[in-house]
Amino acid sequence: MKIILIGYMGSGKSTLGRALATAKNISFVDLDVYIAEREKCSVPDIFKNKGEIYFRKKEALYLQEVLQKEEDMVLSLGGGTPCFGNNMPLIKASGAVSIYLKYQPQTLTQRLLQEKDHRPLLAEIKEIDLEEFIRKHLFDRNPYYAQATHIIAMDGLTPDQSLQKLLTVF
Ligand code: S3P
Repeated sequence: MKIILIGYMGSGKSTLGRALATAKNISFVDLDVYIAEREKCSVPDIFKNKGEIYFRKKEALYLQEVLQKEEDMVLSLGGGTPCFGNNMPLIKASGAVSIYLKYQPQTLTQRLLQEKDHRPLLAEIKEIDLEEFIRKHLFDRNPYYAQATHIIAMDGLTPDQSLQKLLTVF
């Protein structure tokens, strides 16, 4: 079985994904890490040197590559992965269990204030404008995220409670 974690930047997809994979004793793949390894370049540097369109093409290519693997795994996507090209239909057609880790924009803003400079899409946004930006961005992305097979509200949970809530899906 493949379990795919979906959600906005700062949703803890990688941290929770790793913990879930350990709990279920299956492998863990972080799509951003996979892209960086295959491209021999970090995601922020891909954005900087080659631009977002190049990144989105590679993201789609490597998503397909990972989905074709036979092994059971937890796969954490980038925040934008479900929202481009044919990615969400492919995710659904793969038969994977997809889980949207849903947070309110205020929570995401708090979580991202400290780390926004490492995120190519947020680095240029002023702190004062961050919540408004996230609110609009999330509104645009929500129709894609909402196609996940499960939607879990995560606001206010400790990391351990988040994992326990995630495990109730299975
Ligand atoms: C992106 C999210 C990032 C990364 C890239 C673009 C997005 O992943 O894929 O910077 O479009 O939301 P995380 O969600 O892991 O930060």
